[in-house]
Amino acid sequence: MKIALVTGASSGMGREFARQIVKLYRNLDEIWLVARRTERLQELEKEFTVPVRIFDGDLNRDYIYERIEKELERKNAEIRILVNSAGCGLSGCFGEREQDTELRMVKLNCQSLTRMLLLCRPFLGRGSRVINLASAAAFAPQPGFAIYSASKSYVYRLSMAIREEWKPAEISVTVVCPGPVDTEFFAHSGELLGKSNKVTKVDPKAVARKALLDAVDRRCVSVYGTSMKVARIAGKLLPDVLSAYLMRKLNGI
Ligand SMILES: NC(=O)c1ccc[n+]([C@@H]2O[C@H](COP(=O)([O-])OP(=O)(O)OC[C@H]3O[C@@H](n4cnc5c(N)ncnc54)[C@H](OP(=O)(O)O)[C@@H]3O)[C@@H](O)[C@H]2O)c1
Repeated sequence: MKIALVTGASSGMGREFARQIVKLYRNLDEIWLVARRTERLQELEKEFTVPVRIFDGDLNRDYIYERIEKELERKNAEIRILVNSAGCGLSGCFGEREQDTELRMVKLNCQSLTRMLLLCRPFLGRGSRVINLASAAAFAPQPGFAIYSASKSYVYRLSMAIREEWKPAEISVTVVCPGPVDTEFFAHSGELLGKSNKVTKVDPKAVARKALLDAVDRRCVSVYGTSMKVARIAGKLLPDVLSAYLMRKLNGI
């Protein structure tokens, strides 16, 4: 059975990925959607003609992985495309929030994404594609968004490394690094600080479309929009200490 698996499918970019995947991948037997909000996933299911399997659960808990793994084995599934979109951010200075809240973010963005990749690897075949959602926040250390940007640097680096490891198996990995996107993300994260808050939020449909096309082309990194492409180049050219200083000024700290 050929499937697509999308985490974070109940809103924002994950939902857009799911919508666009079913149009782009015509030979899927099923699409599997993962997130905590069951009703949202059921609403999305109504839009699709391809059969949907819903995994409603918390990616920071064990049971969801056990359910997914059991189903992958039972259905002898081949994951043609895996999108790891579940993630969250919290703006503000280091230590301003409850420790548990900050640690849940690190767990979701880093550990859960890694666990999903480990779980899915045996079910990815030749020509399968993986899309991991990092962020433009991965390009430089970000005072005022420190833990989030560090967690997304992890996703960025991990994606680059496994992309090379998985090349002989013809599994491609694309890491997506958007700037601010108009989703529910900011309702949970709080608004960005200082001048970062003034950056225009882009449409999640456009980010997902570009990422899927970049994945088709087996590109390593997908960056939507000129300003974020410039941010990527700046992140490569400037020493980290200078980037961190400039980001502190930009964030008004
Ligand atoms: N929006 C931006 O500006 C932006 C920019 C760069 C990168 N990103 C990254 O892009 C990805 C998607 O973000 P988005 O903008 O689409 O945000 P979003 O609209 O808030 O979507 C986040 C998704 O993650 C799911 N999720 C959150 N916690 C979860 C948990 N513990 N277990 C299972 N699912 C969980 C949410 O579903 P439930 O609440 O139903 O569980 C939701 O479907 C994230 O990794 C984010 O870091 C976002």
